[in-house]
Amino acid sequence: MIVAGARPNFMKIAPIVAELEKMQVKNTLVHTGQHYDQAMSDSFFEELNIKLPDFNLNIGSDTHARQTAKIMEAFEPIVTEFNPSFLVVVGDVNSTLAAALTAVKVGVKVAHVEAGLRSFDKTMPEEINRIVVDHISDILFAPSQDGVVNLKNEGLLNKTELVGNVMVDTLTQHLNSAIKRPIVSELGVDRYGLLTLHRPSNVDDKEVLKDLIEAIIEISKTLQIVFPCHPRTKDKIKEFNLPKTIKVIDPVSYFDSIALQSAAKVVLTDSGGMQEECTILGVPCLTLRDNTERPITVSEGTNFIVGNDKNKILSTFNQVINKEFKASVPYLWDGQASKRIVQSLVEKME
Ligand code: UD1
Repeated sequence: MIVAGARPNFMKIAPIVAELEKMQVKNTLVHTGQHYDQAMSDSFFEELNIKLPDFNLNIGSDTHARQTAKIMEAFEPIVTEFNPSFLVVVGDVNSTLAAALTAVKVGVKVAHVEAGLRSFDKTMPEEINRIVVDHISDILFAPSQDGVVNLKNEGLLNKTELVGNVMVDTLTQHLNSAIKRPIVSELGVDRYGLLTLHRPSNVDDKEVLKDLIEAIIEISKTLQIVFPCHPRTKDKIKEFNLPKTIKVIDPVSYFDSIALQSAAKVVLTDSGGMQEECTILGVPCLTLRDNTERPITVSEGTNFIVGNDKNKILSTFNQVINKEFKASVPYLWDGQASKRIVQSLVEKME
């Protein structure tokens, strides 16, 4: 059984579900409904050709406790009845935590894909989800060596397997189709930077958001900015008078996001996945956070951690904007991670 719930889960489950089907492993797909808009969910299933979920729990948005609790309550009878050999959960969203916690409590073994990532910042809800899920899971599929080290430090090495990054499986499989998407020409932009912002720590605090927007406005004086805006952020930016040089658009599909990232001169983001995608695409990424759970994108990739300080953002922008970057491929980010994961699960079922 495999569970997904929120936007960053969908590109991670796609290659795993495809590999399960290819290997003729009977599988049940459960969508929690944490994300539900066409742009936040359905478009990913359509583009990535993910089979329709066998169950949709239709949970929707709520506070952390209520969202997690509702998923657990709705998921318990399903996981109990199906009693799968394994529950596979991916990433670090509330759906990941809720499903993993429910399954271990009814005696179902849990495999966590993207295990071991740590920002060491417990103010991030995702960090709490990562720590808890890793500690209750039976198999920890780590995407990179830094994840293995973190898991070792937490006494979890005996459950850990380094398998590579499933996000990269999806990216390499779909890159050629994605870059053919006409979104860049349709937006009428040529040279541009891509901005995304959705972390509560950036958008829920008015002062922080104000500083960030000021830095972006400054950058947009020399480089057009395209800003696909997450629903969480939409309301919050209404009170800012954004210049025309910042083009705010609705959230984009996976293919459009890859097309926009590939052709961008720079990406400014607080997303985790985009830090990885930029590394593979060779596009400089300014991460608008004080830390990252994906340090390999800094040490081996194109990522710069700039936080939300205006001066730091502007000076790093000036450093990277006219520099050439090369795509890099960290160890095992080779498009084969889902194969390794399914192979490992199948061996354990035999
Ligand atoms: C969630 C994840 C975060 C991930 C992000 C990607 C957790 C704790 N957070 O944050 O790790 O990076 O998804 O998007 O799981 N909304 C809609 N339509 C939707 C979904 C949400 O309009 O389809 C709006 C709702 O107003 C909701 C808000 O967005 O209140 C936030 O959604 P929620 O799922 O709570 O968290 P995200 O900020 O999306």
